[in-house]
Amino acid sequence: MANLVRCGLVALAAVSLQGCSDDSPSPRPPETTSVTLRNGVKMPMLAAGTWQYNDSVAEETLIAAVHAGFVHIDTAYDYHNQVGVGRGIQKSGKPRDSLFITSKVPGCGLQNTTAKTVEQCKTETDDKIALDLQQLNLSYLDMVLVHFPPCPGDDGSAESPSECSCYGPKNGCSHPQSCDMIKAQWSVLTDAYKKKQIRAIGVSNYCSACLECLTGSEVFPMINQVQLHVGMGSDPEGFRTFAEKHEIKLQAYSPFGSGGHGSEQILKGNLTTSIGKAHGKSAAQVALKWIVSHNVSVATKSSNPAHLKANADIFDFTLSDTEMDSLDKATFASEDTPSFLCTDSNPSASQVQLKSEMSVVV
Ligand SMILES: NC(=O)c1ccc[n+]([C@@H]2O[C@H](COP(=O)([O-])OP(=O)(O)OC[C@H]3O[C@@H](n4cnc5c(N)ncnc54)[C@H](OP(=O)(O)O)[C@@H]3O)[C@@H](O)[C@H]2O)c1
Ligand SMILES: *[C@@H]1O[C@H](CO)[C@@H](O)[C@H](O)[C@H]1NC(C)=O
Ligand SMILES: *[C@@H]1O[C@H](CO)[C@@H](O)[C@H](O)[C@H]1NC(C)=O
Ligand SMILES: *[C@@H]1O[C@H](CO)[C@@H](O)[C@H](O)[C@H]1NC(C)=O
Ligand SMILES: *[C@@H]1O[C@H](CO)[C@@H](O)[C@H](O)[C@H]1NC(C)=O
Ligand SMILES: *[C@@H]1O[C@H](CO)[C@@H](O)[C@H](O)[C@H]1NC(C)=O
Repeated sequence: MANLVRCGLVALAAVSLQGCSDDSPSPRPPETTSVTLRNGVKMPMLAAGTWQYNDSVAEETLIAAVHAGFVHIDTAYDYHNQVGVGRGIQKSGKPRDSLFITSKVPGCGLQNTTAKTVEQCKTETDDKIALDLQQLNLSYLDMVLVHFPPCPGDDGSAESPSECSCYGPKNGCSHPQSCDMIKAQWSVLTDAYKKKQIRAIGVSNYCSACLECLTGSEVFPMINQVQLHVGMGSDPEGFRTFAEKHEIKLQAYSPFGSGGHGSEQILKGNLTTSIGKAHGKSAAQVALKWIVSHNVSVATKSSNPAHLKANADIFDFTLSDTEMDSLDKATFASEDTPSFLCTDSNPSASQVQLKSEMSVVV
């Protein structure tokens, strides 16, 4: 009976277990495989990312990810592969409501959106939500994120955020026009949420200064997706503490360092490798486990079915306090920052206030 209940619960959670017999090892409590957002929506902890894939690779890896046990998919308008992702969803054979699908809209002034005026920003955001749904061939999305803080004044021609004028100075939320733009763009997401086109809404690469602009909003961002991986410390720039304080669920991207600082040490280094050995797990699995052990959800990516299977299989072991501590203290990627368009020098001074009674249900 207990096993039946456990298996039933686990089936609802982030990854499905391979087999669920009486002698299967005791998994961690099912709640650790998903996070509950402020509005009660359950979001699976592990998402299969799709960045940098073309349509055909996106389609293929998505099917492989679903077969490996992923039920959360992370994509975006500017990945230019949502048609392939949509085909993969269709071909995976999974009922729509058994998957959690996250997409994104570009920040205004970035990635082919102009941000000369607040009205333009609103119209283009509205268009991008419609295009996300259309390209994915879906009638609703589980989550839509504003991909980046706005870059007011930029004409949108910067295809990559690293080409926009806010990239070097990281001043994405300190332009005189930033707050107006952020509020305008957020109001469009809020409307789509209230119309039930989207079950939950959030942001990405937002510092506390960006979130402060949304103080007292009818609905406050439910998640903030930022860069976080071993080697950056467990609370870079105070982002995790800030999120916890304001009931925002932090979500990590590039858990393996995205080929930049630290990726070699994360995937092959002594620290993650030796900890993995003690548990019969790989360095990659330790890197993901470190993130979810901080109650932070994570978008990861692989086009290799064996890697996908391993990446989904991280809920049957526990890192000790000592292991967590040594992973927390690793500094080999301290050059990496949670956002590459803005920076938080003093997030604890933030004045964000939740209007929580309004943000609970819609
Ligand atoms: N909001 C944002 O601004 C933002 C920014 C970056 C990323 N993201 C999202 O987060 C997702 C993940 O981040 P990411 O794409 O930077 O990648 P990542 O997950 O940090 O790393 C992916 C790389 O790690 C390798 N890998 C994956 N699993 C492995 C394993 N078990 N063993 C060894 N190598 C492994 C993959 O190679 P193989 O394919 O060979 O396995 C790939 O080269 C993205 O796809 C995207 O959806 C969002
Ligand atoms: C998609 O990317 C893969 C891997 O890089 C490549 O082999 C394939 O030719 C690409 N497909 C298209 C249609 O460009
Ligand atoms: C940018 O937008 C224009 C007009 O909607 C479109 O024709 C063009 O293909 C877009 N470019 C990219 C890279 O998305
Ligand atoms: C879009 O989804 C519907 C089912 O919801 C399906 O019948 C149709 O074939 C899909 N279209 C494409 C182009 O995949
Ligand atoms: C490798 O890591 C383990 C565990 O963190 C540590 O005990 C050991 O001293 C490290 N070895 C080297 C050569 O750094
Ligand atoms: C994670 O969340 C659980 C349940 O809400 C809580 O008991 C635990 O203390 C949290 N762990 C951390 C490291 O924040």
